Order: sequence, then C-alpha cells, then structure tokens
Amino acid sequence: MKLESRNNQIAQEVIEIVEKYNFQREKLLQILEELNDSYGYLSEFVMKEVAKNLQLTTTEVYSVATFYSFLNTRPKGKYIIRLCKTISCVLAGKNAVANALRNELGIDFGETTSDGKFSLEFTNCIGMCNQGPAMLINNDVYYHLDPEKAVEIVEKYQ
Ligand code: FES
Repeated sequence: MKLESRNNQIAQEVIEIVEKYNFQREKLLQILEELNDSYGYLSEFVMKEVAKNLQLTTTEVYSVATFYSFLNTRPKGKYIIRLCKTISCVLAGKNAVANALRNELGIDFGETTSDGKFSLEFTNCIGMCNQGPAMLINNDVYYHLDPEKAVEIVEKYQ
C-alpha cells in the first residue's frame, strides 16, 4: 500500500476512535490506549491526527503519550517485558533479575532485540509488591522472580 493511502486509512481510523469518544479531550488517554493497541505504538502521524481532531497541540498529545509507560511512541517488540522498578521489588532483588534479562536478551532496558521479538522496559508498581520481584510480559504477570526463573520464563516466549 502506498504511504499516502495508508496515511489516509490511518487518519480515518483515528477519526472513528475519536468520534466514539465524542471528540472529548478528557478522553485523550483512552483514545491513545486504543490506538496504541491497534498499531502497537503511537507514530508521529497518529499523534498529529489525534491532536488535530481534538484541537490540541501535538506537544500536548506527545506529553501524555510519553508520560505513561503503557503507551509506546516507537515500534516495540512482539513481547514487551516490563520489570517493576519500585522499591519493594528493588528490595526483593529486582537488580539481579534485571541483569539476568539483559544478559539473556543481549539488550539493555529501553531497547528492542534486532529480530523485533522482545522489548525490555522498567515499569512502576504493578500491584504485586509483597510477591516481588515482579514483571509483565505483555499482559501476563510473573512474580517471586529470581534470575533463573526470569530467564526460564523468557525462554518460553522464544
Ligand atoms: S513494588 Fe513491584 S509490584 Fe509493587
């Protein structure tokens, strides 16, 4: 598909989602979440279209998109690993798990493997504080992690 017609299609899809929320600016987060789910990330084009339709500036949309760790402004891997970096998980051994994940995947946090399969990220508390260290792989929750267990879990997604 040519870029222009692909962009027209995306622009139309953005309008449909914004319309569903009655063009309400206060629904910006929900709108971005839906678009993030559809495309896997929020491209500059998508953010511009959202801004246009809600009569916001692109900067306003971009600030929301970059504030929430569940919204991506760059393409991500098929599986997004989010390791909790909040205090209870830190005390329970998050750093050792983080190093094991780095070594296993050969990337650092904030990066995506060259085959596009895994992205490694930190997240704030995911509500498993008394069972840390905890991580998400897409929507699956894993807890009571140690370095070996974390690597075994990731291997299942390989
Ligand atoms: S501190 Fe890690 S899940 Fe709450």
